[in-house]
Formats: sequence, structure tokens, C-alpha cells
Amino acid sequence: MTHPRTARADRGRLATSLDWDPSDRQLHLHNGQVSLVLRVFEDGTLGQLHLGAPLPAGRSYRHLGPNPFPGFANRVGSPVPLAYATSGTGDFRVPALVAATADGATSLSLRYRDHRITAGKPAPEGLPSTYVEGPSEAKTLEITLVDEPAGIEVDLRFSMFDGRPLIARSALIRNVGAAPIDLRCAMSLSLDLPDADWHMVGLAGSWARERHVTDRALVPGRQSVSSVRGASSHEHNPFVALRRASTDEAHGEAYGFSLVYSGNFLAEVEVEPYGTARVRLGIEPSTFSWRLEPGATFPVPEAIVAYSATGLGSLSDAFHELFRDRLARGRWRDRPRPIVINNWEATYFGFDADRLVEIATTARDLGVELFVLDDGWFGARDDDTTSLGDWFVDRRKLPDGLDGLARRITELGMGFGLWIEPEMISQRSRLFEAHPDWAIGIPGRPRTESRHQLVLDMTRPEVVDHLTMVLTDVLSSAPIAYVKSDMNRNITEPFSPSLPPDRQGEFFHRYILGTYELYGRLTERFPEILFESCAGGGGRFDPGLLAFAPQAWTSDDTDAVERLSIQWGTSLAYPPSSMAAHVAAVPNHQVGRISSLSTRAAVAFFGVFGYELNPTVLEEEERAEIADQIRFYRAHRELFQRGRFVRLESPFEGDGNRVAWMSVAGDGRQAVAGLYQVLSRADPGPSRLRLRGLDPDAVYRVTTWPAYDDSLARANAGERSGAELMAAGLVLDAERWEIAVRGDFWARLFVLDAV
Ligand code: DGJ
Repeated sequence: MTHPRTARADRGRLATSLDWDPSDRQLHLHNGQVSLVLRVFEDGTLGQLHLGAPLPAGRSYRHLGPNPFPGFANRVGSPVPLAYATSGTGDFRVPALVAATADGATSLSLRYRDHRITAGKPAPEGLPSTYVEGPSEAKTLEITLVDEPAGIEVDLRFSMFDGRPLIARSALIRNVGAAPIDLRCAMSLSLDLPDADWHMVGLAGSWARERHVTDRALVPGRQSVSSVRGASSHEHNPFVALRRASTDEAHGEAYGFSLVYSGNFLAEVEVEPYGTARVRLGIEPSTFSWRLEPGATFPVPEAIVAYSATGLGSLSDAFHELFRDRLARGRWRDRPRPIVINNWEATYFGFDADRLVEIATTARDLGVELFVLDDGWFGARDDDTTSLGDWFVDRRKLPDGLDGLARRITELGMGFGLWIEPEMISQRSRLFEAHPDWAIGIPGRPRTESRHQLVLDMTRPEVVDHLTMVLTDVLSSAPIAYVKSDMNRNITEPFSPSLPPDRQGEFFHRYILGTYELYGRLTERFPEILFESCAGGGGRFDPGLLAFAPQAWTSDDTDAVERLSIQWGTSLAYPPSSMAAHVAAVPNHQVGRISSLSTRAAVAFFGVFGYELNPTVLEEEERAEIADQIRFYRAHRELFQRGRFVRLESPFEGDGNRVAWMSVAGDGRQAVAGLYQVLSRADPGPSRLRLRGLDPDAVYRVTTWPAYDDSLARANAGERSGAELMAAGLVLDAERWEIAVRGDFWARLFVLDAV
């Protein structure tokens, strides 16, 4: 019997190929996992007949398009499936591309000119993207569409990765005319599906409540999620999925759509009157315009579309593997990530070097590997009203400088990490005194503060150059192994004096390009530093930043129960290797809840683990417990960080009281399942927890963590076949008195080792 993991690797050997049938003018790109069928219609427009389940090669799919082909001339408004839709010429659905030509007209009609197939995958210029390590990993179909009277050419790119059920889409828009063109909407993806019997799944929330799963049946009209905050945001994520009503984690059809972008985005589905659905994903058009001068090009961000016939779980597998292995880059991509302790919730702004070293020393003795100095080390920052932008050390707190502190930490045998917030400026700062015009705002009008801070104008090259210089100095000044790069507010009064009035619509996109430029420079100059992105927790947890920083601070909410929802939702698109998850003090600083140390760890283990508390004030017993947690995590680090994450019981279904998930090692020889119960209920009766993703033929020894000798441990102790664990499940019976002892916020891990 082939092991599931091996089976996936085998499928990986099916190379991507393109069939081009010149008589039918049909292009079929396929890799055995997914098929894309495009056809040049009779009027020259590029139709998209199919994207999804793999279809046999060498056949005509012409009949999947409108037949006989009516175009829009015959019946305006008919739902012709198009690869890159425009407006004004008979298609009244939401467009992919809107551009105003010199005469002010906005009607476009793109016609096929030619196409090419190349080995490998190009990167959209100046933008983060997924990549290949060699040309044999993917093939890219590039199709040029033209609107000659408008002077616009579009290179549509479809990159298909061998062995992955997904496609990366991007486009390069070119002005080949003699006059400037104003882009008003330039989507990364537009996909017409033949029916609308889907549920739209999204990740919504707010600060400290990020990426909760939303799920609604599509209805006629437009439904969307978006951000206009200048960041991908806490509120919505540039990821949506479509699932059939019957699709669950392990069965049924689903599509996933993800935008490799960190700024304003729109993900929208329109159900039109004949019951078809159009999906579009890209830069949010109401806060975007772009002047394209003659000869200039505009690359749109990359979008990823994944298809699954076997549930949301397989969809997540595809995104996890791609984002972990071919979006994240650099030396830390594949390395085990260190267990950190962060001083933020331990001290906030109130620390000095000795206090930090005391925390670090205690943490080191428990097994923690890296100490992170958070906010408050620079300028004169004793609270959040001052000093952002003044990236020089506060010698009142750290008399021997960053270097002095970092050396004391590294002498303990720990790595030293540092918090920065490059894009921000405080009004009370030397930087603001010197460059008040570098803060975003509209001259002559008040600026809106948030967390007492303003945002630097990252559209300006001199600002990015300045930040590169000062942060290069900071990062070179001490042995720094890790950087947490934060961003704590959204953008108001979007305006840059460096842009002419008719180009202010470029502001938000240019802001993100400037941010990427800075991230790119710093990560290239300091390849040994592990970068973690952050935005007041998970306010910019998106594929754009994951291309620079392989992990992100998942949420400021460190409460174990809250984290069940946040980590579950995040895992729809993002792998555990990207999710920083820490054990924090109780009562929890965000919700006041008191949960046990072991429950907090049992949740945080399923990510990049660490601590966010002061170990010096804990009882001896608690410290011993932490030492045990760290031993356990170290022994299973590879599994937790790089294993296959399988969602079992959702916090978003039923009453959400019982939650379960698991990590399965790449070779299937080891797994850890986490079971969580929010509130205790009297006499719940016996139940089971059916596992997934195991090798059915393997026999696993089952133990529990923490290793209590109770009926739960005894009922499951011993050896069980993978087949039994998946079909019958773990046995969750417990004595009544044991249920009472557990109380609320209870968790237990089941450790499975193949014998
Ligand atoms: C927001 C982050 O999410 C926190 O972890 C902490 O770094 C603070 N900012 C510091 O200001």
C-alpha cells in the first residue's frame, strides 16, 4: 500500500504539459492534478472553458464554451466565460481590467494575439511571488491579448507547478500607444465558473480576533471581502475559498484563491442572472489607479488558485506546501525555528538590561533558545506616545547599548532578537522634527493619529533609503539573530506630496512597493537573520510578507481558547511553519481568562512555539512544567513546524466546545493529535475522535501528553493500527470524577509513534 505522503510525491512526478490545438484554437495546460482549458473564441476573445479537476489530454472541450458562439454582439450580457474580462463591450459582470484611454473612454476589448510556453516561472517585477528552484518544476503559459485602438497589451501568465493542484496567475499590462493610459482596475485573477452552487469561505475578524472562518452560500449579485486600510488587515484576509454545500474537510470539491499581496485587496464573487459565478481577486480598485505612460508596463500581483476534489483539508495541504517551500525563501525556509521568549507582556516598556538578562537567564535554564527584545529599546520610548523613527538605543535602559545587551544574551548560549517598526513615526521624535513631511498626511489638513503614531510615506524612495540606512546600522551593531518587524496602525489621509495630483491614486500600491523594497533589502543584507512579520498581531498575515519573512506573529491574542479559532482559521491557507504561537501569562492580558499552562502549550505547540511571559515570577513547579513543555516541543519540533496539519473538529461548527486537530510527519511515522474542550460538561458520555492522514497499514504506539495515568490514557494506551485510528478513532471515555477534575479549558495531546 502506498503511503499517503508517498502518493503525493508520486503524483508530483507528473510533469505539466500544454496541448495546443490550432484548429480548435484550444490551449489545455494540465499536470494530472488540475486542468486549465482556454480557447480563442471566434471573435478573438480569450475564453476560459475550464479550471479545476484534471481532464484528459488530447480532446476538444469546445462544447464547454458558448456554442454556437454568440459573442456579445448577438446577445449582450450573456455569461461568456472569459479569461480576463473587460467592461463596456457587452459583459456587465465585474471586470478584471478597466483602463481609461486618452479620450476618457473606458471600454476595452482584448483579443488574442499569440502565446508561448516556457519552462519555469517568471516573477512579477518588483513584487513578491512563488518561485521554482529549477525550470523543470513548472511551466508557464503566457498569452498576449491586445486592444489595438486603445494601445493596450496584456500578457496573461498561467504557471502550473508539477505535482501541485494549483496555478499561479499574473498579468503584465503594457501601454503600446502614444498617449498615457489610466488603469482603474487591474485584477490578478478572474475566473468564470459554470454554476454558483458554492459557499464562499473567508477569514474575517478584527485586532486580536483575526481569521475567524466565515461561510455563506452564494446569492445572486456581488459578495466580497476587501481591505482599504493600506494593509491586508486584521479584518479580512486576501484568501477566499469556494466549497460545495456538502464539502467538508475530507470530501468534496473546493477552490482556494490567494493573493500574494499585503495592501488593499478585493476578493469578490458575482453571481449573474443566468446562475454562473465570476470570481475576481486583486488590488482593491476603489483605492487604486495607475498612470501608464507610453511604453510603460504594470505588473499585477500574483494570485494562486488551487483546486481540490477531496475537501478543504487537501486545499490547505496545497497552499501549505507551496507557501512553506516555494513562497518562503532564504536560509530560514527549511531550518528548524528557535523557541523564543519575548519580553513584551513580561515588561511592556518598563525594563532595563539587568531585568532583561534575568528573564533571559531563567528562560535559558528552562530550554528557551532565543530572547526577543520587543518595543521600547530606542529613543525615549517609555510609552507608545513617542520615539518611533528614532532607531538609536535608549542608554537610560541599556547603558551598554544593544551590543552590550546582545552579548550578555548570547553569552548565555541564546540567540538575540529585536523588535522594530520601520514604517512608523511618532510626532514626538527626532525624525519628525527633522522630516515632518515624511509622515503621511495632506498638507494643510490635520492628520489622524492611531496609537499616537503616524505612518511614514513609503512611496518616497528617500524614506526607504533612510530606513535602509538606519536599520542596517542597527542590525549590524549587535549579534542579532531574529527580527520582529511590526506595523501597528492603518493608513489615513492617503496622500504623498511626491506624487502629482492626477497620480494620487497610485499611493496605496506604491506604499506597499516601498515596504517590499525595504523588506527585500534588509532580508538580502542579513540573510542569517530570521525575520518575523507582525502588524499589531496578525494584521498583515498574508503571502506577500511571507515571501520575505517565513513566519508571522499570528495574533496579539495569546489566550489558548481564542487561539483555537485563530489558528484553525489561519491554517486554512497558511502552514504551521508561518504561525508564531506563544504561551502567555494568566490571567490572559487580552481576555482575562485563566487556563492551565499545559492547555496554553497544547495549543501553541501547533506552530512556531515560544513564550510571552516573565518566567522569573513563576512558581518552581510552573518552571518545571515549562522545561517539560520545551523538551516535548524540541522532540517534536519538525513534526509541529513542518508536518501536515489536519483539522479534525472545528471551533466554528456546532457549539464549538470541542476542537481537535493533528500534525502528521512527512513520512507518516509520527503524529500528534490535540484535543481541546472549552467548557466542561457533566457526564458527557463516551465518544471518539477519528483521526485522518495516518498510514492505514502502520501500527502506532499511542501515549498522551501530559502523561497522566487516567482513564483517557489507559483506554488508548498500546498499539493501534492507522486504519483503526482513522475508522474507529481514539476512545474518549472518562470516569465522571475525572471529568470534574478536568474543569474548563482542558486539553490533551495524543502522541502516535509507528512501531
Ligand atoms: C504589537 C505586537 O503585536 C505586540 O506583540 C508588540 O510587539 C507590540 N506591538 C509592541 O508595540
